[in-house]
This record gives sequence, structure tokens and C-alpha cells, in this order.
Amino acid sequence: MNQHTYNKVTAGIIEELRAIAGGGNVIVDEEKLETYSHDETDAQVYGHTPEAAVLPRTAGQVAEIVRLANRERIPITPRGAGSGLSGGAIPEYGGIVVSLERMNRLLEIDRDNMAAVVEAGMVTNDFAQAVQEEGLFFAGYPMSLQTCVIGGNIAENAGGGKAVKYGVTGRYVLGLELVTPQGDIVELGGKLAKDVTGYDLKSLVIGSEGTLGIVTKAIIRLIGYPAAKSDLLVLFKTPQDAINVVPAILSRGLSPTSIEFMDQLSVHTSCRYLNESLPYENAGAMLLIELDGANPEQIEADLIETGKLCESRGALEVYVAEDRNNIERIWNVRRNIAEAFKVFSPTQSLEDIVVPTSKIPLMIPELEKLGKTYGMIIPCYGHAGDGNLHATLVKDPAMSMQEWNKNEAACLAELYRITVGFGGKISGEHGIGIKRREFLRNLMPAAELELMRAVKQAWDPNNIMNPGKIFTSHN
Ligand code: LAC
Ligand code: ZN
Repeated sequence: MNQHTYNKVTAGIIEELRAIAGGGNVIVDEEKLETYSHDETDAQVYGHTPEAAVLPRTAGQVAEIVRLANRERIPITPRGAGSGLSGGAIPEYGGIVVSLERMNRLLEIDRDNMAAVVEAGMVTNDFAQAVQEEGLFFAGYPMSLQTCVIGGNIAENAGGGKAVKYGVTGRYVLGLELVTPQGDIVELGGKLAKDVTGYDLKSLVIGSEGTLGIVTKAIIRLIGYPAAKSDLLVLFKTPQDAINVVPAILSRGLSPTSIEFMDQLSVHTSCRYLNESLPYENAGAMLLIELDGANPEQIEADLIETGKLCESRGALEVYVAEDRNNIERIWNVRRNIAEAFKVFSPTQSLEDIVVPTSKIPLMIPELEKLGKTYGMIIPCYGHAGDGNLHATLVKDPAMSMQEWNKNEAACLAELYRITVGFGGKISGEHGIGIKRREFLRNLMPAAELELMRAVKQAWDPNNIMNPGKIFTSHN
């Protein structure tokens, strides 16, 4: 795949883009383009300014833009909210960013089919609230739900806070409208509970990080809003104590909605960022466990059993959150950890390794060892119930930048090697993007990577669709 022979966006191309999308929807001003040059990864390291950004309003416009780019060999970078954490929305090769921000309408709630049709640029939280008003539930719960958009969730197959029970975004995608890298509009899947009509292209697109086309619309599966919900906050002396409980809860078949883990430094950092104070900040680690379902008595019984199990396994305190306000404050602390580290420790690497849940207790001592070996602070939090941990490599202020650069790469390589050794994968929810492509090349069996490359080649022979993501430009 030769990724470097692209053409520039000329004045003539800008005119064509204006004719397609309307003059006001084509951005070429350097200052305004800055917004489209980065996501939530470090802009200094990964950022790149596009030559133009286009804000289309219809799939037809998206298709015309892509056809133009494919004809002229100009790279296209699809963009949702830019809240990604692996560089997926960064236009590394310049070219045109296609931002879906103006395609943000909820088109239909189809109760008879328990489905909703939504444009890709709708904010996930707005979507979830709109269907909730109808008594329906979208079970996706990315931690950035107040900013991220449905199309981005699909591109990354976002996981998040309710995946223990409900699974990840892909489980709720019944159908997609996709603009292919050739500029065709295809409908994949549909309002169907079953579909084995040929290859499952819809699932191939979900999680493909915008490399196989631009999702413009999705049919989302809805379920009934759970009548009952309860949360437990469980404090532990050490991270190891907290994590040890996780496989025990799961193997008891208690089926919580989420089991979120936060160590002390993560809680402190987020509280400082939010100017919040929780009365539990002295605990070495905590688990935030949520249960929901149709039957309040069952939830109550499971809650009690989960609490007892935690106590029998060394929990310091178990709090049942009676008050929704209070529990929302704690969830808010949890949701803001990543942003808080970004603000207070900008030189860092946020990871999202995933291991089988039975192996998750083994990760804690490994993280401690890595911290010592490489002189790093490695706070940890994340979706413990999914085996998905956000171990974050943070630069010690005493460490020089030169040392950090060297140690970060070595520490990451070692972390990934350990993860794979436990039967895990290097990314559970943020994707490969730019950030992990070199590691993927080194860690993934060559035959598997070759199959992935062959798919990309077949869908996008000119390699104009989000080039540089997932794959390195060399073999
Ligand atoms: C979270 C993001 C970083 O779980 O995935 O907070
Ligand atoms: Zn996460």
C-alpha cells in the first residue's frame, strides 16, 4: 500500500467541494481548520491540519465528495466528535476531513420494530435521552457520551460502562448506511433480527475506524428501559483487593450492568479536575457496581449478594447508593478520569488493554512491576468487569522528555507483550488508529494482518479512505 502519492486540494477542488456542499460548509481557513487537526490524543505528537474540512448535510453530498476524492486521489478522513483516543480522526496525510457534525438528526423511532434510525453525527447522549423519553433504552454507554457521536461509536465499536451486561455498540447496530470509498451508497443490514444473506459486511464496518467508508446513518436496536437500577460503591485497601473480587462476581452469575474500577490516584485526579470531593478518597481503590433489570426485587437480592461477596473478599466498606444524585456524582468522577489526566499530566499514554476476565487480577502486579522498571507512574481505572483496563502511563515530573520517549515505547511494548501473553488484545475499545499501528504490525500474526490488508485493498484500492489508520505504510 503506497500511502504517499496523494494529490493536493487545489483551488479547483475547493470550488467543486463548495458546489457539492454549499460554500458555508467548506472550511479552508487555517485557524478554523485547527479544530479538525486532532482528536483526544496528544496534538503535539499526532496532530495534522487538513487542507479542507467539509460539513455535508446528506449522504448524497458525502458520496459526491468521496467520488471526487477518489477520482483525484485525495485522502479523506471521516470525523465524528473528535473524541477518539487513538488518532482515528486525524488527517495524517492532509486532504479533506468529512465532518458529520451537521448530520445529527434522529430520523425515526420505530417502536414496532424496537429500532431507531439516526444520523451518524448525533451526540450519543442526546440520542439515548430522546429514546428514553419514549420508555426505550439504548444500551451503549461510552464514557464520553456527552460529547461523542453515534457514528464515532460505530467506527470504533465503542465499549464503555454497561458492556458487562449489554455488550458493546455493535450489538445494537441493526443496519448502516455507508458511503463506500468509491462513493457508492450502500445499505447494510436492516430492521432485522436475523440476516445471513451473504457476508456480514455491516459487522466488518463496525470497528473499522473509518477505513472502509463513511457511516452516514444507522438503524439502532432498542430495548425496554430497565425498570430498576441500583449501584454499589465498594472500597478496598489496595487495587489488587478490588480487582480480585471481579472474577468472583462474574463467575457467581450475578450479571451486573457494570463493574468499574478506579484506583486512588485516578479518583484524586478526577476529583481535583471537577473540584469535587468524595468522602471515600482515602480508599486505595474502589469498584462502582451497577445492576439493572425489569424486576426490582431481583435487583435488590443481587445487590445484597454482591455486597456480601465483596465483604467476604476483604472490602473495607460497601455503600448502597440510595440517592441518584449522589451516584451520578460518583459516575461523573469516573467518566472524567481520562480528561483529568490529560489536563494535569499531559505527557501520558492512555491505554485500553483487554484480557480475559479471569486474568485481570494478574495484570495488577504486572503494572506495578512496569512502573518500577520504567520509572513511570501508572494509575489504573476502567471497565474491570470486561477485563478492559485503562492503565495510563504518566510521566514522572522528574523524568526528562528524552527519557520519557525512550521509556514509554519500551514500557508499552512490554505491556502489550504481557497482555497478549494472557490471551488479551492491545485495544479493547479505543482502536488502533495511528497510535498502535506499529505495535499491531509487530504483535499480530502475519497471516491475520494480511487478511485485514486484503480487505482494505479490496474496498479501497486507491487507499483514500482514512489512510494511515490501523496499518503501517510498510509491511
Ligand atoms: C473511559 C475512556 C477513556 O473509560 O474509555 O473513561
Ligand atoms: Zn473506557
